[in-house]
Amino acid sequence: MRVNVIVNGATRTVDDVWEGESLLYVLRERMGLPGSKNACEQGECGSCTVYLDGVPVCSCLVAAGQAEGRDVRTVEGLAPDRDGLDPVQRAFLEAGAVQCGFCTPGLIVQSHDLLERVPEPSDAEIREALAGNLCRCTGYEKILDAVRLAARRKAGAE
Ligand code: FES
Ligand code: FES
Repeated sequence: MRVNVIVNGATRTVDDVWEGESLLYVLRERMGLPGSKNACEQGECGSCTVYLDGVPVCSCLVAAGQAEGRDVRTVEGLAPDRDGLDPVQRAFLEAGAVQCGFCTPGLIVQSHDLLERVPEPSDAEIREALAGNLCRCTGYEKILDAVRLAARRKAGAE
């Protein structure tokens, strides 16, 4: 099966996609975009989160064929240019919210979405938004710090 997907603003065509292949597999293994991580492949951990038509989804649960003609934005597509970082990406680095990094791309996409919808989220809103993203390393406090920092930066407060 041939699949055409708009990924990070560019139309990408992939041939010989098996019906059971996930969007995550196609992104990582066929398109050379390893940012989205494969930690559970069961929709449990959120490490594979990408935007699909502007809505965060677990890409391990999306069949590649379901993405036909649709718009996908991965963690690689958040940065304004090749060498730059989105404020959320920068805040995760500066707040020490990255340890092994396996959860990080999904948390960044989910946090990015939260701050687009709720520019000044409460701690409860941050926790709720990130409830589907599991991290085995950080204890989550640094992740909350990162989202708070990104919110302040985006508001121009820092
Ligand atoms: S790899 Fe998709 S939710 Fe865990
Ligand atoms: S930094 Fe290791 S799982 Fe989150």
